[in-house]
Amino acid sequence: MAMDHIPVNEPLLGSRELEYVSECVRTGWISSAGRFIEEFEQKWASYCGRRHGIAVSNGTVALQVSAACLGLKPGYEVIMPTFTIISCALAAIYNGAVPVLVDSDPRTWCIDVNQIEAKITPRTRAIMPVHIYGHPVDMDPILELAEKHGLSIIEDAAEVHGAEYLAGRGTTHPAWRRCGSFGTLSCFSFYANKLITTGEGGMVLTDDPALAEKARSMRNLCFQAERRFHHEELGFNFRLTNLQAALGLAQLERFEEIVARKRWIGQEYNRRLAGLKGLQLPVEEPWARNVYWMYGVVLDEAAGMDAAVFGSRLKERGVETRPFFLGLHEQPAFHQQGLFLGERYPVAERIARQGLYLPSGLALTAEQLDEVCAAVHEVLS
Ligand SMILES: Cc1ncc(COP(=O)(O)O)c(C=O)c1O
Repeated sequence: MAMDHIPVNEPLLGSRELEYVSECVRTGWISSAGRFIEEFEQKWASYCGRRHGIAVSNGTVALQVSAACLGLKPGYEVIMPTFTIISCALAAIYNGAVPVLVDSDPRTWCIDVNQIEAKITPRTRAIMPVHIYGHPVDMDPILELAEKHGLSIIEDAAEVHGAEYLAGRGTTHPAWRRCGSFGTLSCFSFYANKLITTGEGGMVLTDDPALAEKARSMRNLCFQAERRFHHEELGFNFRLTNLQAALGLAQLERFEEIVARKRWIGQEYNRRLAGLKGLQLPVEEPWARNVYWMYGVVLDEAAGMDAAVFGSRLKERGVETRPFFLGLHEQPAFHQQGLFLGERYPVAERIARQGLYLPSGLALTAEQLDEVCAAVHEVLS
């Protein structure tokens, strides 16, 4: 790759981050106590319309703690999309439960909500919708199913900070709600490529005070307030540091600007790549506000190549890309455990091979975006 290549993502950190992190260093509050953690938890929870926020070390463990809080155990099942990161399946498996997979919607690439009910069994305890690449899952049908079958929802909102969903369509009171407001427990990642980043980091949101207390305790080795080194439950050290929360809080202060920039990137790509033969672009359903976390494209037959070839041709032109997720059902690590053998999910399989995402980071300049689009046009023409 040329030195002046356009990276798929670069974080954009500012003077407020420096100021807050410097305060940690100056005052010595560098570990998992300090003012930034609580403030970050409260402000992010409140931004998402939730009562409680529990900051953790990353998005993967946010899902794991959430699953543990719901008391998942061997024999139980969690329904989730196959087209997602491995973290989702691990959250179930590390709690002894079994992931049960569902194919993707071909437009939004999120879980196909019409295929969920057929997967519900007497062992199902939770549904894990995963909002993909900035676009919300169609949540109404999932909320209805959860209600009807008495299931919990672990909402994976790692990729959709600030995205919104029009809930209650078809009722007299439809209302826009933020992603992260729908789960019994909702999970975020603050990895370096996310809209808000703490370097590594995550958060669990909930409205249930008992679940919040449980998550808080599990994050911190289940120490007890009265007798610190007396443990009645098995926990984890999944704490976030004040240093990390300082970064997150600084970005939260200019979050509207961050969302606007991401939407601008997505919409500019849409405009410049519209009508290009062979390329499926991201959608924004009428009930969704997409934050274009990563700008994904899917090639169809007219393109005459798969995403690997497309990616390497873009790379020759200085444009870095990332392939789409490979479905959970295609992961050798799970086959070795006897999971998902012989299962087929045609939409997820197609987009895994035909999809990639283009440079989408907050530091992407208008000139770089131009160059990416020129390279895409050149490769596909
Ligand atoms: C949908 C989804 N869930 C969970 C995670 C895991 O987050 P982390 O990388 O912070 O562990 C990611 C990571 O990018 C993700 O995209």
